[in-house]
Amino acid sequence: MIKAITGTKDILPEEIPAWKIVEGTVEKIFKNFNYKEIRTPVFEETFLFARGIGEETDIVSKEMYSFVDRSGNSLTLKPEMTASVVRAFIEHSLGKQQPLNKLYYISPMFRQERPQAGRSRQFHQFGAEAIGSDSVYLDVEMIQMAYEILKSLGLKDLTVKINSLGIPESREKYKVKVREFLSDKKDKISEESRKRFDKNILRIFDSKDENDKRIMKNAPLILDHLDNESKESFEVVKKTLKMSDILFEVDPYLVRGLDYYTKTTFEIISGKVGSQNALCGGGRYDFLVEQFGGLHTPAVGFAAGIERILLACENEKSLKLPEEKIDLFIAKLDDSLSQKVFELALFFRRKNLSVEYDYLERSVKAQMREANRLKARFVLFIGGDEYKEGVANLKNMETGEQKTFPLDKFELVSDLLI
Ligand code: HAM
Repeated sequence: MIKAITGTKDILPEEIPAWKIVEGTVEKIFKNFNYKEIRTPVFEETFLFARGIGEETDIVSKEMYSFVDRSGNSLTLKPEMTASVVRAFIEHSLGKQQPLNKLYYISPMFRQERPQAGRSRQFHQFGAEAIGSDSVYLDVEMIQMAYEILKSLGLKDLTVKINSLGIPESREKYKVKVREFLSDKKDKISEESRKRFDKNILRIFDSKDENDKRIMKNAPLILDHLDNESKESFEVVKKTLKMSDILFEVDPYLVRGLDYYTKTTFEIISGKVGSQNALCGGGRYDFLVEQFGGLHTPAVGFAAGIERILLACENEKSLKLPEEKIDLFIAKLDDSLSQKVFELALFFRRKNLSVEYDYLERSVKAQMREANRLKARFVLFIGGDEYKEGVANLKNMETGEQKTFPLDKFELVSDLLI
């Protein structure tokens, strides 16, 4: 049997209502904050992600779905959106049209990670990027939007974690300090962390190894090594978050897995989804646009994983799913009336009603079972003596009440249904 690729998943019709609630909530809240949607291609030049996210990050070094196409170009299925949005921003000179571009997206992403609960190889993110301002209020706006979306989905067990990674110069100085701290402990840390020591030392803070964690507890903290500018903006972020009634924790170990961050970073964690507990993450990236050849353009953004959010919603039983109903089921009492029923269905569907009828030549009893399964609000019976007399019965399935209508006055029926 041919199966879906490991780490990918079919989203079946019964799951769609929950997805629609998430997507609808996301669109509404982004609209409230005046963000405009952007859609970018599913694949890009590999170089874009390698350069943007960082060669030594896990995403680029281990997880990208890259392939060479028939023209010999190295292409990659997008593992995240920020690099693509920045490419589009530069390519279409969006900064010339307006100084600040507030953009959002909902899109599939691809990373070849080890699949587990809350971690898949094709997953979906929604996110936002505000490109063109260094206002610290945009940093807070990102956290607010993410938080409001999660709260609107009924989630309660949430922890907002924030940190500042400083500007590149202060971070480079800080990395030297961490290297000094670890230099006599290199043989005690895990093999994975030893690899990171040379290539991406701050990621050692993300190690899941208990011994590494113990060692890193005594490491110098980035917040004690911030430049003044980053320190001041971090203070404003904290003050403004308090004002917005968003409880947060300062987590000096929050380093994030992508290289482009500067200053504020954040994640929102769920206590209800197991080890893959980050529902969203983001932060400021003031140098990415110029790194791709654009003008200096400060920016900030975040992205959230929809599958993880849905898992949290399921575990917190937080979503109230709408009951799926149809307006009308047309029951056919006589198979010779198929053409008439088809016509009637079209008539009512064009009146903007959801309508179903039987295609399987089932008995009237079986058609009624189907009407009940579909939770039809009304059933219209076509056939029998009534049909010969030029009328049809309409049954209200909630009240059991029946009404008779002349077959040439179906306008009346549709008025009743609406
Ligand atoms: P990220 O932290 O790599 O950041 O991903 C954001 C969210 O995507 C995660 O918090 C998680 O919910 C979800 N996610 C990531 N990988 C997987 C996976 N394998 N399976 C399921 N869900 C996953 C970014 O992608 C940045 N582009 C965020 C950003 C935007 N920063 C600035 N602007």
